[in-house]
Amino acid sequence: MPSQSRIHRTTVRSLLGGVGVLLAVGFPLSATAQDPSLAPSGRFSVYRTTAAQTPPMGWNPWNAFRTDVDETKVREVAKAMVDTGLARRGYRFVNIDDGWALKRLPDGRIRIRDSMFPSTARPGSVTGSFRPFTDYIHGLGLKAGLYTDIGRNTCAQRWDAESPNLPVGTVVERQVGSYGHAVQDIRTIFADWKFDYIKIDACGVADYTPDVAPVKAGLYQASDPLIVRGNIPASDPNAVEHLYAVLGDAVHQWGGEDATMSICAWGEALSPLWGKMRGNLWRTSPDIEFTWQSMLENIDSVIDGALYAGPGHWNDPDMLAIGHGDFDVEHLTEARAHFTMWTIMASPLLLGYDLRHSPAALLDIVGNPEAIAIDQDPAGNQGVPYRSGAAMVVVRTLRDPGERAVAFFNRGTVPIDANVSRAQLGLASGSAATVRDIWAKKDWATTGDTITVKLPAHGAILLRVAGTPGDPDAVWLDEMPARINVAVDGLTQATALPMGQFPARIGTAPDGTPLHGEGAGASRGIGAFANSRLEIRADRAFRRFEVTPAVLSGHHSVRFRVYADRKLVKDVVAGPAQTAVPIEVDVSSAKIVELVALAPGGVARLPMIAWGSARFMR
Ligand code: GLA
Repeated sequence: MPSQSRIHRTTVRSLLGGVGVLLAVGFPLSATAQDPSLAPSGRFSVYRTTAAQTPPMGWNPWNAFRTDVDETKVREVAKAMVDTGLARRGYRFVNIDDGWALKRLPDGRIRIRDSMFPSTARPGSVTGSFRPFTDYIHGLGLKAGLYTDIGRNTCAQRWDAESPNLPVGTVVERQVGSYGHAVQDIRTIFADWKFDYIKIDACGVADYTPDVAPVKAGLYQASDPLIVRGNIPASDPNAVEHLYAVLGDAVHQWGGEDATMSICAWGEALSPLWGKMRGNLWRTSPDIEFTWQSMLENIDSVIDGALYAGPGHWNDPDMLAIGHGDFDVEHLTEARAHFTMWTIMASPLLLGYDLRHSPAALLDIVGNPEAIAIDQDPAGNQGVPYRSGAAMVVVRTLRDPGERAVAFFNRGTVPIDANVSRAQLGLASGSAATVRDIWAKKDWATTGDTITVKLPAHGAILLRVAGTPGDPDAVWLDEMPARINVAVDGLTQATALPMGQFPARIGTAPDGTPLHGEGAGASRGIGAFANSRLEIRADRAFRRFEVTPAVLSGHHSVRFRVYADRKLVKDVVAGPAQTAVPIEVDVSSAKIVELVALAPGGVARLPMIAWGSARFMR
């Protein structure tokens, strides 16, 4: 597994100490053609889990209360989640965020702040127990989540310094993050307290450097940062991934495979690329603020990441800001647009406003069963975007044949038209289609090849379209991103992308340029770097694989290999300036098909490649 080899390198580096700087400088080394990670695995190597088969839904107090969270509020919100009908619609998790820990005791256990969570106090117990709380949540038919950090300290200790609810005691007692206590903490949280979900933050390895004021003042122990915010080369992705891997293993051990593991490293340290190996969901961006602009940035952090998401593993552009600021009850257009984008992107739906006093108009949005059904579609495909000026059109292939969801979204403040063609929907040109407008709760009649809509400022329209697939025997790779795993991405320091860009993408090269070079239909392919390996769950459903491999950049030839259940079934070389040649491969009865692109040894800047016009035939 690629990530394990990264971790191995970390170990080597830390063993070598200073000398190791020459080896990695905190950046994963590229796979080389000889690298065992480029050999077929015969597996779909994502985080082992039975949890989060659809994106998690629930509520988290952070956006409403920050550290001013207490048990009464959380219990009442949980009750409101049931009473408003939201629980019936799928909202299940009630998560406690930062602020619950009082101090770490000399034996390493954590004492709960029982002044805020009174039911946790137990005669004779110095730590207290969340059992009465989780029993209450479970009794409502819901699930419960808790929060920790991979470092020694949490985010609120650094960023909510004025809060009256921070941990107390000596420097060591205030180290309520899981660093050095991973197994013990996870065991307590899952085995003793019976939580179902853990959110693991990362400020402890980012924000306690020797130069910051509270550290200088002796309040917190200094630590060299493993994450330098916004700066991948200065961060240590290997080490961060390793800490999450240890916690993920502990979650498996004590929570079982049905426990949900949420990675909160804000898209830093390449976490959107390895998150799927280590947890069920991972943040792709900084914390959402309650502004339109912040929401746009969070959308952009995730919109091209369809190849990274699927059942059990989801991109997380953060909790919903609905109910606050630009998305409050005075801004229903924006609230609807926000919800539209989260559902089309298969994002977790974690509400963050006070549900005890929810305006009905907001419940109508976050509780819309047809919008929720799109988010929760069992195929788990994240939508794929088309952009044109301020308009974004995002198409999501749903489970049922011929069913698509499409979101039209206006980023700007001027009304615009937006459209989508039958071809972009993967539906037969000129065929009839039924169109359901999910916010207007109306069915439309459509004729012609294009659906055109008018969008007001910040407006969004969400449609569910049922039609005739372009070719009923074909499934294009862009229609099945949830069944594709970017096992090795070919990313190197030389090819480093700006933060937030994914090295394997649908419809474009990794740098966003078109998949030129292999003719018509090219955009229905995958762009990646050479020295990459994709794992595809074919699940014995297909007879044939058709693809047009092409080299998109550089001056080197690339070897393209297709494997069916680890058996090499095609091996071709394509040159940089060559006309691309389509190939066909028999994959009958294959469970896992793998696509490997190999650059010759010694190439510093790995070429970008395309698996163009790629489809399976039934
Ligand atoms: C970070 C996380 C937030 C929240 C706070 C708690 O900022 O990204 O979601 O958990 O910490 O302090």
